[in-house]
Amino acid sequence: MNKPVLRTMAMAFFTILFLIVFLLPACRCADPDPLQDICVANLKASISVNGFPCKPLPEVKSGDFFFHGLRKEGNTTNVFGSNITSGNVLDFPGLNTLGISMSRVDLAPGGLNPPHSHPRASETGVIVKGKVLLGIVTTANVFHSKVLKAGDMFVIPRGLVHFQLNVGKGKAFFLPAFNSQLPGIVVLPITLFASTPPIPDDVLAKAFQVDEKVISGIKSKFGS
Ligand SMILES: *[C@@H]1O[C@H](CO)[C@@H](O)[C@H](O)[C@H]1NC(C)=O
Ligand SMILES: *[C@@H]1O[C@H](CO)[C@@H](O)[C@H](O)[C@H]1NC(C)=O
Repeated sequence: MNKPVLRTMAMAFFTILFLIVFLLPACRCADPDPLQDICVANLKASISVNGFPCKPLPEVKSGDFFFHGLRKEGNTTNVFGSNITSGNVLDFPGLNTLGISMSRVDLAPGGLNPPHSHPRASETGVIVKGKVLLGIVTTANVFHSKVLKAGDMFVIPRGLVHFQLNVGKGKAFFLPAFNSQLPGIVVLPITLFASTPPIPDDVLAKAFQVDEKVISGIKSKFGS
């Protein structure tokens, strides 16, 4: 092979290598990377950035790296029989800029963490107690589900709609983790039927192919 051909091939090879090494991983990450060791959130800062400004280093205490909020069972006496105790940057400022967070989900017997999605994070986690049916729907509208027991781990790709139902006899709880300090949550029934101000009944009636009375009936269950 002559030199120009070899040079072109070498350039193509390094271009592809560059794309694989640098650009593809960038597409997979959620929150941006930190630029320093520590940036404990100052939640009260008046300036607004993508995340929270750091509190001054001399003010950082050991306590900023620990959070006890997930010890306690959430109160599941509500319409869904479930409770999410969040451990995101708003509850645990030490997570700021690190692109990770956790929470705790308690499910009463028969309790449901209703269909929802997290716009800013993939989710993984482990069932700590009980028996939980976990369901995920892909954007191709394929439903994946499995009954999980204590010790079982799961993963929910970013943005996909999913739910967890307690199918055991007793209480259940699990600890999800997210690749975002603030994953966000869109709970479909709440988003659609309990927004402020409400989505017009005729929009939802058309979307669900039912009478408007059915829509106002559902809305009344959520107090709107
Ligand atoms: C979840 O549990 C906490 C702590 O018991 C309680 O304050 C909160 O109101 C509960 N949330 C719901 C939606 O029931
Ligand atoms: C749980 O919430 C319900 C409804 O708000 C309340 O009546 C009950 O006292 C709460 N239970 C505990 C243990 O706080």
